[in-house]
Amino acid sequence: MAANSLTVTDNRTGKVYELPIEQGAIRAMDLRQIKASEDDFGLLSYDPAFMNTASCRSAITYIDGDRGILRYRGYSIEQLAERATYLETAYLLLHGELPTSAQLDDWVYQITHHTWIHENMKKVMEGFHYDAHPMGMIVLMVGALSTFYPEAKNGIDGETRKLQIIRLIGKMPTLAAFAYRHNLGMPYAYPDNHLSYTGNFLNMLFKATEVKYEPHPTLERALEVLFILHADHEQNCSTNAVRSVGSSRVDPYSAVAAGVAALYGPLHGGANEAVLRMLGSIGSRDKIPQFIKQVKEGKAKLMGFGHRVYKNYDPRAKIIKRMADETYEVTRPSPLLPVAQELERIALEDEYFVTRKLYPNVDFYSGMIYESLGFPVEMFPVLFAIPRTAGWLAQWQEMIEDPEQKIARPRQVYTGPAQRDYVPLGMRG
Ligand code: SDX
Repeated sequence: MAANSLTVTDNRTGKVYELPIEQGAIRAMDLRQIKASEDDFGLLSYDPAFMNTASCRSAITYIDGDRGILRYRGYSIEQLAERATYLETAYLLLHGELPTSAQLDDWVYQITHHTWIHENMKKVMEGFHYDAHPMGMIVLMVGALSTFYPEAKNGIDGETRKLQIIRLIGKMPTLAAFAYRHNLGMPYAYPDNHLSYTGNFLNMLFKATEVKYEPHPTLERALEVLFILHADHEQNCSTNAVRSVGSSRVDPYSAVAAGVAALYGPLHGGANEAVLRMLGSIGSRDKIPQFIKQVKEGKAKLMGFGHRVYKNYDPRAKIIKRMADETYEVTRPSPLLPVAQELERIALEDEYFVTRKLYPNVDFYSGMIYESLGFPVEMFPVLFAIPRTAGWLAQWQEMIEDPEQKIARPRQVYTGPAQRDYVPLGMRG
């Protein structure tokens, strides 16, 4: 009997099976040999929402949920947030190593020179109502990019793939800024190649009549850190969407559009917007006990709290909370900040949340900073989608290159009716 194995007895037949254990997992396919009879299909593993299922092997991001650890390619999120830039981090996620100076210069040059979008994309944007949610616009616009680059269907080819990755990372801020300007009814501000990735994003958002937009360095750096913190997070809902859609070998624009759509949900990337709306509905600190009571009664969720993996404080939330004070030195803190701080204090002491290991996650405080930077609440999930594009593409690339991966097609446990005959219309009911 091998040391790294599981011995199971099927009590239906008395047969004994030995299942190998590799890297803390058994292969679900090894269960199929366990049959109750010769014509039995064999055992499946049933795991709704993939609570305990590894869908892939990945070398990109490591999370230890109990210890609140997050690393990109082995580097701690704390060190990267402190010392790296977002594009440097994006390079690391996609290539597996920090870039040399020459590699970084070339990478930044490539991304910077792929920030423009086809002028016809403006006609697509103009089809939206003025108050269309920017995430709904971005889902469509990212998918629309695939129609401008038909060669992207050969995404598995190295050079073609590299160009699409550069295009997507370069163009996401442009799409986001254009959506923002569309909501305001303002003319689009075009990319300025002399600015940094985040500086140019601020330029495309906020440039008015000045000849050249000069981003405030504190705000530019705050966005840089927020983008680093949101760049990847292993097999989250939207990454799973990108991997699954990408496994059909569709182009990366369509796969990333699926990721944007998944991220839009209030349980995922839409939570930062939901946090601000929740705090706004609470209104003041004296209303918090009443809200907490509603949460305990299951009538409300404490948005920005809880996580499938972190059963400790989300390390990203700690960094965001720490950097918020620096941002507030040059902006005005959100009037809802005292409500958020008091809500956190109460929740961290309350048995209901402690027993469920519900701690603030990345979305609880990020909205505070976004609001102080002048972003409308609808833009908050968009500010998550921009940096996550690098992580989605790194995960998509890893899936494409993984010889064990093929088109994602889960099984099911059928609970519907057995075979039955058609009933003529007049004989129903
Ligand atoms: C992100 O996966 C990732 O990595 C995502 C992300 C990333 O970077 O990609 O980290 C980004 O999406 C962060 C999460 C943002 N979402 C929110 O803040 C929304 C509020 N949080 C919850 O909806 C919830 O905590 C989830 C969705 C984040 C996690 O849900 P799970 O793991 O499915 O846990 P669960 O819903 O089964 O909850 C377990 C228990 C339940 O209570 P009981 O039924 O056992 O009594 O905890 C309760 C839940 O009711 N619970 C909450 C709660 N979250 C869980 N109760 C009140 N408020 C909450 N926020």
